This record gives sequence, structure tokens and C-alpha cells, in this order.
Amino acid sequence: MRFDGKTALVTGSGRGIGRAIALKLASEGANVVINFFRNRKPAEETAAGCEAFGVRAHVTKADIGDPEALKEMFKEADEVFNGLDILVNNAASGYNRPIEQQRPKGWDWTLNINARSHLFAAQYALPLMRKRGGGVIVGISSLGSKFVLPEYVVVGISKAAVEATTRYLAVELAQYNIRANAVSGGWVKTEAWQHFSNLQVVANNAERHTPAGRLATPKDMANVVAFLCSDAAEMIRGQTIVVDGGYSLRTPG
Ligand SMILES: NC(=O)c1ccc[n+]([C@@H]2O[C@H](COP(=O)([O-])OP(=O)(O)OC[C@H]3O[C@@H](n4cnc5c(N)ncnc54)[C@H](OP(=O)(O)O)[C@@H]3O)[C@@H](O)[C@H]2O)c1
Repeated sequence: MRFDGKTALVTGSGRGIGRAIALKLASEGANVVINFFRNRKPAEETAAGCEAFGVRAHVTKADIGDPEALKEMFKEADEVFNGLDILVNNAASGYNRPIEQQRPKGWDWTLNINARSHLFAAQYALPLMRKRGGGVIVGISSLGSKFVLPEYVVVGISKAAVEATTRYLAVELAQYNIRANAVSGGWVKTEAWQHFSNLQVVANNAERHTPAGRLATPKDMANVVAFLCSDAAEMIRGQTIVVDGGYSLRTPG
């Protein structure tokens, strides 16, 4: 299997897309560190799902927006697994409001969790990956990095930062045999949708305009993350791969 003997840490992997990524990597042989922030129970369920594939899973609580907690999480992962091969920076949060209702506190909250963590998780993962002779880092982005989505301004900005950070990681960490890429999703149905007031209308419209004929699922995202983590993606560096069934290719009409 592609990830036999490897160790992966997936942030925010109790639920949603993160859970699908953790299960996919585990199904192909990786031991996994499951990170959660507020919801321990789903994280433990994800861990049990991973263990059912015969791998080891370790659950750890950390607010990735807090650099000390983030650092501690990598220390803990190292104590449990003695190194790291794969880091997926998936967890995200957001202060979803129109521009006139945005607050500096919401900016800090969103940027710290979504963007600052991408850089510092990579920095804290570096010594663990060097123990293994290299590694792979994958960031998770969204179409809001390039396109204007309703109530999404600060998350969109944070995702643009995720994609830019990914390019820097790809260049600066190549010397340690570490690859970095990002996967960007269109509309992927998860609990995150409850944070958008007008989402069902937008989603129905999106489905109608998706050349693939359906919206992407967490599994679709996980499949591409796993590909980028595999040796077959050796020559893909610093890229953001869009998984949206072609939705963003078209102009509405
Ligand atoms: N859903 C979509 O349509 C879509 C589209 C494109 C991209 N994405 C991206 O895909 C990723 C996952 O999204 P999702 O839809 O699966 O989200 P979700 O269902 O809302 O889940 C968010 C996850 O992030 C974790 N999290 C939030 N704040 C955290 C923090 N401060 N520290 C650690 N963990 C934290 C949550 O953990 P707890 O439950 O423990 O709090 C949860 O596991 C995000 O980067 C998102 O931007 C989503």
C-alpha cells in the first residue's frame, strides 16, 4: 500500500473533509494523528475508523490558531510516532460576514487558524520530517482564494495566503526532501455549510453549473490529497489542485 509505515497528521480530522482524508490515508497504511479543537467525540470515532484498517491512530486536542498549542501537538506526535511523513493542514474556521460587519478580531481569528497555522505547522513538522528523510505537506484551500464568494472576505484572504505559503514551502523546504502542494475545493457538503445563511440556494445553483453534474464530496478531496502525498506526485511542487468538477471553469449563464 502507498503509505505503509508512514505517519500522517491531519488537522481538524474529526469531521468533514479532514475525516475523509485521515480515513483515506489510514486505508492505505498510514498511522494517523487526528487533531480536533472543540469536538472530541467525532475525533475518537475517526480514530476508531482508522484503526479498523489495522493502523495506529492518536487523538490530540489543539487549537491550531494558538502557536504554543500547535507546537505542543507536534511534540506529542513525535513522542508517539517518532517522526512524521505527511502533514495535511486541513482545519479552518472563519468569521463569515459582509465587509461592513467585519471586525479586526474576526480577521485575527480567521487568519491565525487558517493561514498562520499553515506556515508554523510546517516549521514545527520540519524536524519530525527530517528524522524520516523528508515528507509531504498539503494545505487545503477553497475557490474563495481567487473568486468572490458571499460573506467570505476574510476566509478568502486566508486561503490566498494558504496558497502563497504553499509555494514558499515547496521552494524553501525542497532542500529537506519535503514537497508541498494544496488542494482547493469548490462546494463540498459538510457541516461547514451551516455557517452560511444562503447556502442551499447557492449550492443548488452551483450543482447546475458543474460540468461533472454533481458537487464534489469529502472523498473526492481526500483522493486528490492522497495522490499528492504519494510518490507519483514527486514532480508536482507548490501547486493548488482544484477539485470542483469543473465548476470554476465556467461563467454563469
Ligand atoms: N466544505 C466546503 O465546501 C469546502 C470547500 C472548499 C474548501 N474547504 C476547506 O476544507 C477544509 C475542511 O472543511 P470542512 O468543510 O470539512 O470543515 P468543517 O466540517 O467545518 O470542519 C472543520 C474542522 O476544522 C476543525 N477546526 C476548526 N477550528 C480549529 C482550530 N482552531 N484548531 C483545530 N481544529 C479546528 C474542526 O474541529 P472541531 O470539530 O474539533 O472544532 C473540524 O474538524 C477547510 O480548510 C475548508 O476551508 C471546504
